[in-house]
Amino acid sequence: MAKLEVEILTLFPRMCEGYLAESILGKAQASGLVAARVTDVRDFAPGKHRVTDDAPYGGGAGMVMKPEPLVDAVEAARARLPGAAVVLTSPRGVRFDQALARRFAEQGRLILVCGRYEGVDERVMTAVDMEVSIGDFVLTGGELAALCVADAAARLVPGVLGNDASAGAESFAGGDGLLEHPHYTRPPEWRGRKVPEVLLSGDHRRIERWRRRESLRATRERRPDLYARIALSEEDLRLIDAGDDEL
Ligand code: ADE
Repeated sequence: MAKLEVEILTLFPRMCEGYLAESILGKAQASGLVAARVTDVRDFAPGKHRVTDDAPYGGGAGMVMKPEPLVDAVEAARARLPGAAVVLTSPRGVRFDQALARRFAEQGRLILVCGRYEGVDERVMTAVDMEVSIGDFVLTGGELAALCVADAAARLVPGVLGNDASAGAESFAGGDGLLEHPHYTRPPEWRGRKVPEVLLSGDHRRIERWRRRESLRATRERRPDLYARIALSEEDLRLIDAGDDEL
């Protein structure tokens, strides 16, 4: 059985299907490591017009997603995936991060409910376990957010990335909370810009120290909030201001 089973509940299935079918997530499904399903919430809306939204009580602009189709869709998904975490994507949710991605990957079953329009009837919240936001901005709907969550969890499933080491080597994921060091590939010189000499040296210990130094510097400069939370070793303190000849 797949290591991660994900079901996305949405009014716009095609928005999600295209992304899930391509590249790494597409391969992960083909190899059986990830099972993804996209469910059209409209299939749970009754009547000829299959209405899923309505005007807000109290007045105001925009439409609100009705509770019945969404909650019926959640209940059907829960029956397919017992024990799944049920997450509503919403700008009001807790901020999504790598730790939460890891938790979902480990739990192994995830139901993502996409909000739309101005919002979702508050009574839907009793049917979900948590609300998750991917950042302090407002999207037109929760689909992109759901795909972000599904993608970040799926790449942590062992075997999904070709090389098992790569999930851990990247920003945040190694548990060290640092941003990634820069990467280079061929050619060694391009438009007058040279690849740092250390990376061509073949000296793997020195290359590791260079990478660590660059991660530390990038984090200090770009994300002082993350940098403040890192437990720096004596060697880190030496490295961060070391020149290339001191690595
Ligand atoms: N839906 C709309 N905006 C969102 C956001 N920032 N995060 C999650 N879901 C959303």
